Amino acid sequence: MKFCFGVLNKSRLLAVCVAVAGLNILGTGDILASKKATTIIGEKPETMPWTAKIMELINNGNAQKGAAIAKEHNCKKCHGKTGISDENDTPNIAGLTRAYAFKQMFDYKYGRRNDKDMRKRCGKISDQNIADIAAFYADQKSEPMMGIKASKTVPVLAVTGDKSRQLLACDICHNKNGTGRGLLVPLIAGQKREHFIDTMTAYKESDRSNDDFGVMRFIAEKLSDEEIEQLALYYGSLPLEE
Ligand code: HEC
Ligand code: HEC
Repeated sequence: MKFCFGVLNKSRLLAVCVAVAGLNILGTGDILASKKATTIIGEKPETMPWTAKIMELINNGNAQKGAAIAKEHNCKKCHGKTGISDENDTPNIAGLTRAYAFKQMFDYKYGRRNDKDMRKRCGKISDQNIADIAAFYADQKSEPMMGIKASKTVPVLAVTGDKSRQLLACDICHNKNGTGRGLLVPLIAGQKREHFIDTMTAYKESDRSNDDFGVMRFIAEKLSDEEIEQLALYYGSLPLEE
């Protein structure tokens, strides 16, 4: 598949690439079997391959193009025009880093993260266009959750953790006030409450298992439903200023 890199826009060669990709994955039953899926990888990678090529692709994502592609795929139907969703169970995606949004879409595309709607959509988008879309949403402003009163008590788990359960404070990784750290630990401040609870429960039950090294599964499986709910309320209602 390597020879396909850099020629994806030329429709004649594209047909060859798609055919080769199709042969590679025949029989896996994976979303890649979709004829429309094109990739610079060419086979289903075990985990997100953080190669120089992928990083280059992400860094070169074109936000303007991304806006047009997002429009074409009607992402706003669920995530709102600028990545702030109206529904409590649909995540806000405004302000996620390019690398994080890219990874999540990539994981849906390659079947490492489950969600029928997202898998179907991402399966039809080329890796290049995923990078463009990620660049667009990274430029949008995130917002705190509306209509929910900020919890007065700061959960101990958020800032201190719990040694007896080997739980690090969430803020150690997600940054003070859940604003995200580095490229791959996401912003969780302002995240929709129901999505937060759903995704933490999915980690807890290993229904979501695309977290590298099982970092979130290890944590979530030790949390009670009440603790998850309290954390969802706390982070969801946080103002986004540092
Ligand atoms: C039919 C509704 C729907 C549409 C349309 C949709 N999404 Fe989603 N999206 C969701 C839901 C629901 C989730 C959370 C699913 C889960 O729990 O895995 C999600 C998750 C995501 C995530 C991961 C967010 C996170 O915090 O982990 C990203 C990124 C994303 N969508 C981007 C997009 C883009 C870009 C498009 C357009 C190409 C799109 N979505 C179209 C409903 C939708
Ligand atoms: C050791 C570092 C670390 C700690 C501690 C940690 N997280 Fe995470 N968290 C991550 C990483 C990395 C991801 C992204 C995983 C992936 O790629 O899907 C993540 C993802 C998440 C997500 C998914 C966001 C979304 O919209 O998809 C939520 C919610 C979350 N963490 C909440 C928490 C909470 C609450 C705590 C504390 C109880 C916590 N995390 C502690 C590293 C950490």
